[in-house]
Amino acid sequence: MALKRTKIVDVFDPALVGQQVCVKGWVRSRRGNKFVQFVALNDGSTINNLQIVIDLEKFTEEELRPITTGASLHVEGQLVQSQGKGQTVEVQAQTIEIYGTADPEEYPLQKKGHTLEFLRSKAHLRMRTNTFGAIFRIRHHLAFAIHKFFNDKGFFYLNTPLITASDCEGAGDMFQVTTLDLSDLPKTEEGKTDYSKDFFGKSTSLTVSGQLEGELGATALGAIYTFGPTFRAENSNTPRHLAEFWMIEPEMAFYDITDNMDLAEEFIKYCVNYALEHCQEDIEFLNKMYDNTLIDRLHSVLKEPFVRLTYTEGIEILKQAKKKFEFPVDWGVDLQSEHERYLVEEHFKRPVILTDYPREIKAFYMKQNEDGKTVRAMDVLFPMIGEIIGGSEREADYDKLMSEIERRGIPMKDMWWYLDTRRFGTVPHSGFGLGFERLILFVTGMANIRDVIPFPRTPNNAEF
Ligand code: 4AD
Ligand code: MG
Repeated sequence: MALKRTKIVDVFDPALVGQQVCVKGWVRSRRGNKFVQFVALNDGSTINNLQIVIDLEKFTEEELRPITTGASLHVEGQLVQSQGKGQTVEVQAQTIEIYGTADPEEYPLQKKGHTLEFLRSKAHLRMRTNTFGAIFRIRHHLAFAIHKFFNDKGFFYLNTPLITASDCEGAGDMFQVTTLDLSDLPKTEEGKTDYSKDFFGKSTSLTVSGQLEGELGATALGAIYTFGPTFRAENSNTPRHLAEFWMIEPEMAFYDITDNMDLAEEFIKYCVNYALEHCQEDIEFLNKMYDNTLIDRLHSVLKEPFVRLTYTEGIEILKQAKKKFEFPVDWGVDLQSEHERYLVEEHFKRPVILTDYPREIKAFYMKQNEDGKTVRAMDVLFPMIGEIIGGSEREADYDKLMSEIERRGIPMKDMWWYLDTRRFGTVPHSGFGLGFERLILFVTGMANIRDVIPFPRTPNNAEF
């Protein structure tokens, strides 16, 4: 009977020592001499490679020649305590089947130590490296942690549409979705594109946020969260922006802004703690290879409560700072990442929740404060990242919301269904959005958001 395959993550079990095992994976490296060869095998289940020991009395050079970096193997043999340094157990190969070769002249990952930039140009293969293996295992565990967090709290996972006719954030940076023939567009009498002929009978785009539909869910199910891709056609080529990114958006009926802040802080601490507990080896690897302050930073955000202050107070601190900013600060400006990071990294030295922003720089749906100038917004600012969460208490009053929609010139044809939440059984409610990749940036210590999503979409980049 064929021996059942053991994943490499499971093979390091001392109870298996002395047993015959079957392992499968890709060759990370091969070295040795004319008596014995050592192959480091990895199957993606763990950062750790399994050492395969090949006795040259049992195999010919001819048989071993195709075993080069990147080749895929099926190995059977005895699992033994390792004699060498660097691993606890190893497999003494009895049979080796080569599934596929990887020509050393052609295989892009033949050599070690490629730059992250080079690997971005090989995104179709980079998951086979230690670094990207670690990052994408962490990404998985964080996704799972997020579902667990909300499920355990009684939130319901709500799927909101990716194709939409409304611009939630009102920034106008949406990707259009159409089946019209772009080289022969149907026209109205006024000479404009006739979207009534388009697939949905109207102009549609990819969503920038699931929030508006999330509010419909929250005012029915009480507390929901979304977790899906969102799209923004902002042409910002920064290490923190993607054109396609994943966002988690909880939305809760009967939550005011303080409840919202409490939830955001608990949520993000839960995620960081979960990663420390479930991704220890991968985080240690990244700490060792890229940023030896990573683990300390992760522990430090868990330790203390986040600082909470208003935008107005934040601006005062920034104006008094001895630092010269590239973008000048004054009340009313949108904060740049340099300002956010100054508050977090230099002034307070811990995460900050900034609230009550000027209404002119925030979205239409936020609850208006009595002062007539600010809204009940909250942004969570993190070290190395800047804004990681954006959210608010929502304007629950129909008349105030309606007048804000009119003031901003948002077309009612896009909004009537949203306004029904305020017409029928309106309630105080709040929510926020966490940028999933920004969370992964923080947890992995990576510096570029293109390195924490398998296939990044950025301006001029949609190759793989
Ligand atoms: O602050 P934003 O634009 O808020 C919203 O979309 C709200 N509708 C959320 C809500 O209240 N339900 O985006 C939320 C978060 C940001 O804090 C940031 O972490 C991330 O999404 N984000 C991006 N991440 C990667 N690339 C981009 N282009 C991003 N834009 C926003
Ligand atoms: Mg924001």
